[in-house]
Amino acid sequence: MLIDNHGRVINYLRLSVTDNCNMRCQYCMPAEGIAFSTSKELLTWDEMFLLASTFVELGIKKIRITGGEPFVRKGLMEFLHKLAAVEGLEDISITTNATLIGEHIAALKKLNILNINVSMDSLDKERFNTITRRDYFDVVLNNVHRLLQNGFNVKINCVIMGGQNTDDIIPFINFANDYKVDVRFLEEMPFNGHSTGFDNLEWDYKKIMGVIQSRFDAIHPIPSVVGSTSENYIIDNRKGSFGIIPSFSRTFCGTCNRVRLSAKGELQTCLYTNESISLKKVVTENMNAQTVKPLIIKAIASRFKDGFEAEEKTIFKKSMSLIGG
Ligand code: GTP
Ligand code: 5AD
Ligand code: SF4
Repeated sequence: MLIDNHGRVINYLRLSVTDNCNMRCQYCMPAEGIAFSTSKELLTWDEMFLLASTFVELGIKKIRITGGEPFVRKGLMEFLHKLAAVEGLEDISITTNATLIGEHIAALKKLNILNINVSMDSLDKERFNTITRRDYFDVVLNNVHRLLQNGFNVKINCVIMGGQNTDDIIPFINFANDYKVDVRFLEEMPFNGHSTGFDNLEWDYKKIMGVIQSRFDAIHPIPSVVGSTSENYIIDNRKGSFGIIPSFSRTFCGTCNRVRLSAKGELQTCLYTNESISLKKVVTENMNAQTVKPLIIKAIASRFKDGFEAEEKTIFKKSMSLIGG
């Protein structure tokens, strides 16, 4: 079992398989994109598999596949096929923009990979396309419906941005009811590739909740699993649920159970730090799990208490596409 220096059990790995993406969301990167990794810099699928299974040997029970957009990297399904057979790994989940997932729905179902978080920041086509700087609204909505029809556990992630999509909050609450789905509103974080951070966030979790409370009375909290980023709620006589993720306010760090591995093999023990240790060189040189284990254990034994302690202003120049969310 992996336990950090603050007594938190670390059993969740966020594994970014690529930093590339086919969209250009405003909160994630500039219009011209970022300096994406070259294929030589990336972990090969074999290296990634070796590292992922080593993490599982050490105590990781859940792996969430992130990006960039995971499905832009060729070979993802073959990798997932192998990963699904790893003993001790209880849950494989994916965070995706749902543009490319359509053709893989049947295969994912077969692999029992059913927990899919979809980034969708507006139900209004024009707003959606403005935020993402691409024209994929219809494809995404259609794929969300197909995932739901096929019995996937879909959570919608909607990053709330002042002046952009705050009018989407209530429509998304209605969408949750209509399709019996979980919609989560995310506080924006200043990881858009050029920001210097912000001191206070106008649309924080309290303000988002205020909008919902102004329309609905009977809102009840529902228990979340340990380590959850979201506070979740149901509304009387309505199906589905909604959640708020205070990703910038960072109120959930006390129960943090996660670490991150970037597509280049950098192990990052907090979202808000620039510090990482590179595991790429070690696996490339000897493809031996035993040599990486002490590095992983050491990194986990010196984690920051929370995202505020970890916070480095320089990281705000980074794109979320590099960090994997
Ligand atoms: P599950 O709990 O596995 O459903 O996933 P999640 O909600 O943590 O993951 P998802 O990829 O859907 O991310 C949702 C939002 O939470 C994104 O904005 C993430 O960047 C944010 N988030 C995820 N992990 C962390 C974290 O460790 N710290 C902070 N501050 N935000 C996080
Ligand atoms: N702030 C908050 N959430 C973000 N995401 C990407 N960039 C940001 C940001 N700057 C979200 C994506 C995805 C999840 C992994 O993180 O929308 O759903
Ligand atoms: Fe964990 Fe850091 Fe995220 Fe807090 S900000 S939940 S400590 S990774």
